Amino acid sequence: MAIIEDLRALQGEVLSATSGATTLDELDAVRIAYLGKKGSLTAVLRGLAGLSAEERPEVGRVSNEVRRLLEAALAERYVTLEAVARQRRIAADAVDVTLPGRSRPQGHQHVLHQVVDEIVEIFAGLGYTIGEGPEVELDYYNFTALNHPPDHPARALQDTFYVRDLSGDRAVVEGESDVLLRTHTSPVQVHVMESQKPPIYVLAPGKVYRRDVADPSHLPQFTQIEGLVVDEGITMGDLKGTLEHFVREMFGPDRRVRLRPHFFPFTEPSAEVDVSCGICGGSGCRSCSGEGWLEILGCGMVDPNVFRHVGIDPERYTGFAFGMGAERIAGLKYGVPDLRLFIEGDVRFLHQL
Ligand code: PHE
Repeated sequence: MAIIEDLRALQGEVLSATSGATTLDELDAVRIAYLGKKGSLTAVLRGLAGLSAEERPEVGRVSNEVRRLLEAALAERYVTLEAVARQRRIAADAVDVTLPGRSRPQGHQHVLHQVVDEIVEIFAGLGYTIGEGPEVELDYYNFTALNHPPDHPARALQDTFYVRDLSGDRAVVEGESDVLLRTHTSPVQVHVMESQKPPIYVLAPGKVYRRDVADPSHLPQFTQIEGLVVDEGITMGDLKGTLEHFVREMFGPDRRVRLRPHFFPFTEPSAEVDVSCGICGGSGCRSCSGEGWLEILGCGMVDPNVFRHVGIDPERYTGFAFGMGAERIAGLKYGVPDLRLFIEGDVRFLHQL
């Protein structure tokens, strides 16, 4: 009978398509193509209607047998392909616990804070404590109590950021504002001497502000470290010895200190302090512009007028003060030629220090 031959031919076709399917999707496509509503087997079975009563049982038996056989073959192939698919999923999800972890970039203390801490440590070792004062300061503390005459050039608008205008005008008029951003940490000297009695051994690190345009050696905001000692019998020799100790601790035992006469309104005598160049050792080279020395701070003996402002008896007490820029010290210590690098926050620079 032709229909039975058709069924057997179809059986062979489906079996080879089933074993040829390599994914669950392909297998599903085979099932739909042959056994689905519009499938080839279904189409053949529709032909049963046209058969005679004698032919029907035989054809019915063969068609049932073929259907069961094919369903079994599809089910078996399904199990195999499912297992393959699961293996593939597991392999794709697998975590290799032996791989090294992804490391996150680690931050560290900013080089300026490292340097300030280091300086604080050196003076803490000499018994100094920390003094504090505000960054928004009164003219009295920044200038007047530090013996600046009323017309001193440091008070000029082009040097100082004024905050409040006493005259009520919108524009701040030179000499008429009493509130400003401190231009140095020396006003902390006054605060300390107002609130403490000698003996005083104080270090005061903090931010200061000047109307400067940033360039390799100037910053409009920078960090100063003020030192103040007030005691009986303090001499310039104590000041020099203290600075020599500091320089050797900070830069190394071979470095020497030189005091050059200078002027500050609040110290008398005053000096600028140089450290011998770490590259040439003092003979002069390119990094010290042939000088052999590099300037690191200003200092001097506390002017008796400053003592009088805070009610300390200048006949009984003497003292010294010094002030240094932390950016400059850090620049010298690490050979950084441009102070702007310290405030720009570029991690390519900061990670090296
Ligand atoms: N305040 C001075 C400056 O900013 C530095 C200084 C401090 C000088 C203490 C003498 C004594 O330049």
